[in-house]
Amino acid sequence: MARHLITSAIPYINGIKHLGNLVGSQLPADLFARYQRGRGHEVLYLCATDEHGTPAELAAAKAGKPVAEYCAEMHETQAEIARGFRLSFDHFGRSSSPQNHRLTQAFAARLDEAGLIEERVETQIYSKADGRYLPDRYIEGTCPNCGFESARGDQCDNCTKQLDPVDLIEPRSVISGSTDLEPRETKHLYLRQSKMRGELSDWIDSKADWPVLTTSIARKWLNDGDGLQDRGITRDLDWGIPVKKGEADWPGMEGKVFYVWFDAPIEYIACAQEWVDAGKGDDWERWWRTDRGADDVRYTQFMGKDNVPFHTLSFPATILGSGEPWKLVDYIKSFNYLNYDGGQFSTSRGRGVFMDQALEVLPADYWRWWLLSHAPESSDAEFTWENFQQSVNKDLADVLGNFVSRVTKFCRSKFGEEVPAGGAHGEREEQLIADLERRLRAYEGHMDAIEVRKAAMELRGIWVAGNEYLQDAAPWATFKTDPEAAAMQIRLALNLIRLYAVLSAPFIPDASAQLMTAMNTEDDAWPGDVTGALSVLPVGHGFTVPDVTFRKITDEEREDWQARFAGTRG
Ligand code: MF3
Ligand code: ZN
Repeated sequence: MARHLITSAIPYINGIKHLGNLVGSQLPADLFARYQRGRGHEVLYLCATDEHGTPAELAAAKAGKPVAEYCAEMHETQAEIARGFRLSFDHFGRSSSPQNHRLTQAFAARLDEAGLIEERVETQIYSKADGRYLPDRYIEGTCPNCGFESARGDQCDNCTKQLDPVDLIEPRSVISGSTDLEPRETKHLYLRQSKMRGELSDWIDSKADWPVLTTSIARKWLNDGDGLQDRGITRDLDWGIPVKKGEADWPGMEGKVFYVWFDAPIEYIACAQEWVDAGKGDDWERWWRTDRGADDVRYTQFMGKDNVPFHTLSFPATILGSGEPWKLVDYIKSFNYLNYDGGQFSTSRGRGVFMDQALEVLPADYWRWWLLSHAPESSDAEFTWENFQQSVNKDLADVLGNFVSRVTKFCRSKFGEEVPAGGAHGEREEQLIADLERRLRAYEGHMDAIEVRKAAMELRGIWVAGNEYLQDAAPWATFKTDPEAAAMQIRLALNLIRLYAVLSAPFIPDASAQLMTAMNTEDDAWPGDVTGALSVLPVGHGFTVPDVTFRKITDEEREDWQARFAGTRG
């Protein structure tokens, strides 16, 4: 039995994520976790909310709530939606947890001892009216290059010139509009990543099996002129993890917090501690400490491509730099973007389908199937309602749902609600079994390799093979001349339904559970071989005809939804 540690990039706390976010990390991670559990392996699948940083502060201010309260509420909201999508986290933690505070401060202390932290004095813009320093993006003013009046502190959106806040003419605070701004000197901690360039580079080079999307982004950052620069890991903010050296104060760092991208990945580890402290597990170290058994763990991370530099370079720099025996990631599965109906998902314009809305429209399995079978792996992908309707109606309703309904209803009407006796496999059945055997191995291969789209297509092929068999064997016709042969065909088909439930569970867990209940069995063992799997439900075993497994999407619904999610503005 192998042990799999699985994490998906932890979503920002501010706001509900759209389907593109979902398919870029949490959903494929859940697919993989469910698959590995199904294969009988031990899995620890962790995710959390990423709660620090200015966006969280601003979102709380906008909601008129103290930031801690806002985060607690949004965490619950995101957890509820995750349950709705059947994301099977072993624990859904919070980067603001006491565990992460302690661990982040401990990492900083270790890095400092290792000589990898440098204090630097820099000049930043302070707003007296707001009583705080303003990050670049929260300063606006007139562009010195083109005269555009709403240029941001980091860049002018009109002429694209890169800017420094001090370049802006008549700069003002985005928060309050105040122009009472002044540059002030402030001290910050830098992680000297540049010292670890060689070590990181060797480590990336050793990952020959990683997806090109992952390694090409890492190499680009390693090799570019402005590649692995030392990185500021502290900020002048109120909300965050206070800068401390372990449990001790850090002189000169009073009132400062760690940068959100420093503490967020550490939450992957702290989350395992939270899992134990919540009474769900009893040993986090055997997952995370190579001196405590984590050498045997295979650790896989899931994320969108924008997160790759942080996971291939920054977080490994933290881990390697500590000099402690922490588990490093074994495989990084990254994703391109999902676009929405000819454009991008847009939170500000309400364009596209967000996770809560999706579940108002249809149950989780419909979305899971479409998203996973169209995962943006080799390139960006696009959601269109036509494509969604077609996939659901064909794959789920016509192929899988129809198979289940025809088989169970026919059996009930001719043989009653139990697995019928009689007949023996002939050539058609042998061929089907050989075909399924090949497909099953291919499916396992794609799932092991986390080739999500290919796995979905093979699973669909497995459903189609059953349908074609049924069409070809035509038990309803056979029954008239050879009822024993028809019984054998239906016995095989009923067993196929159970096999489909087992194989499909990682993609469509609710439908799978429904089919298991209808087949009146709890035997969800992964098939050793197809022949064995087709004799699990014995002659005389009772079953029930399930309600419709998947319904079709009508043209009218499709048009309604298309209009509803087109965006409120622009
Ligand atoms: N919150 C980030 C995002 O949504 C992801 C953080 S992943 C972690 O893009 F590594 F920091 F945990
Ligand atoms: Zn400009």
